[in-house]
Amino acid sequence: MKEEIIKRRNQLVGFLYQKIGKPIFFKFDPENVHDFITAVGKLLGGNPLTRPLTNIFLNYSHPTLTQTVAGINFKNPIGLAAGFDKNAGLTQIMPAVGFGHMEVGSVTGEPCDGNPKPRLWRLPKSQALVVYYGLKNDGCEKIAERLYNKKFKIPVGVSVAKTNCALTATPQAGIADYVKAFEKMKGVADYITINISCPNAFGGQPFTKAEDLDTLLTAIEKISFDKPTFLKLPPDLSRAELDALLAVSDRHRVSGFICTNLTKDRTNEQIKALLKDADIKTVGGISGRPIAEISTKTISYLYQKTQGRYIIIGCGGIFSATDAYEKIKAGATLIQLITGMIYKGPQLISEINSGLVELLKKDGYKNISEAVGADYKKV
Ligand SMILES: Cc1cc2nc3c(=O)[nH]c(=O)nc-3n(C[C@H](O)[C@H](O)[C@H](O)COP(=O)(O)O)c2cc1C
Repeated sequence: MKEEIIKRRNQLVGFLYQKIGKPIFFKFDPENVHDFITAVGKLLGGNPLTRPLTNIFLNYSHPTLTQTVAGINFKNPIGLAAGFDKNAGLTQIMPAVGFGHMEVGSVTGEPCDGNPKPRLWRLPKSQALVVYYGLKNDGCEKIAERLYNKKFKIPVGVSVAKTNCALTATPQAGIADYVKAFEKMKGVADYITINISCPNAFGGQPFTKAEDLDTLLTAIEKISFDKPTFLKLPPDLSRAELDALLAVSDRHRVSGFICTNLTKDRTNEQIKALLKDADIKTVGGISGRPIAEISTKTISYLYQKTQGRYIIIGCGGIFSATDAYEKIKAGATLIQLITGMIYKGPQLISEINSGLVELLKKDGYKNISEAVGADYKKV
């Protein structure tokens, strides 16, 4: 009965989003809409009446979905990926939206205005976005202050990156910037992700090279931190490059990987035809459907190679419970998303969670953790 009511509620919210919300939002500049939604989310989260109301319209929970991962309790596997709540303004509302965790940031050592506008585009036919924000954020000091001494209903991780400017382009300066952000965030984050895969930052992605990553992790390890640390990987690495990063991770304090960030690959046939605009032909990383398969392949590869030694968080092109389940069976313990929510609506999180409960039941699992890596487990 409860499941039937949730299904109807989600259908109604989804219908209203497709018929009213999305057509209006998609008429305006994507960054302005993002800023507007963030402002509304802050208002809803800050009010003791609208928070429970949001819960009624969007939240969903089920015991099958609960897990303890690296000592942290997750009420469900679906998290908000880094980049939607860059400045930690939405920590009060996202639990009511139904997320089981959220990742704030990416947060950098210094405040950063990001790249020149325009820097966010939609590709509706591909169900994708082109993102060229360039790590716009208020900087680690302000964001740490915002999170300090707050209580959260779900785990709040922080993604750290190096400030996007010429001054951090050398590996030494880049590392000092990461270390500054990590130091500031260690007291306010439930976990920290080291984002080594921003496709839009000055100086490229030096820390996806094994030697530079080794130096970065050695510097970060000097900071005392007893919570999980993840690495966020790009989808564009070869198997040999992934192997090299794994070898480095084996020597350091790495709990797992987020697979994956945006792609810079412009050869993807699905989107090639759509890249007509001069800007998006050359700049920005692509999210959503076009990266779904490559992200799942990265998860499968890492899971098989490491036999569950690392926690894998699957991210990229998740639009349904089936998409999420595919990544879980490939080896992901947790899931993160942004683009699916923009195209499908805020009820997507509840839809995925209730859909997962059905899929798990159909396959005879009592808890979601039993399905992690099921594609590769011997029967
Ligand atoms: C608007 C936007 C901003 C993003 N900013 C960041 C960021 O600051 N740090 C980061 O690690 N990933 C960032 N990402 C990448 C997402 O966290 C995620 O890895 C990617 O979008 C794939 O998931 P999706 O297909 O569900 O959107 C951003 C993505 C979007 C759409």
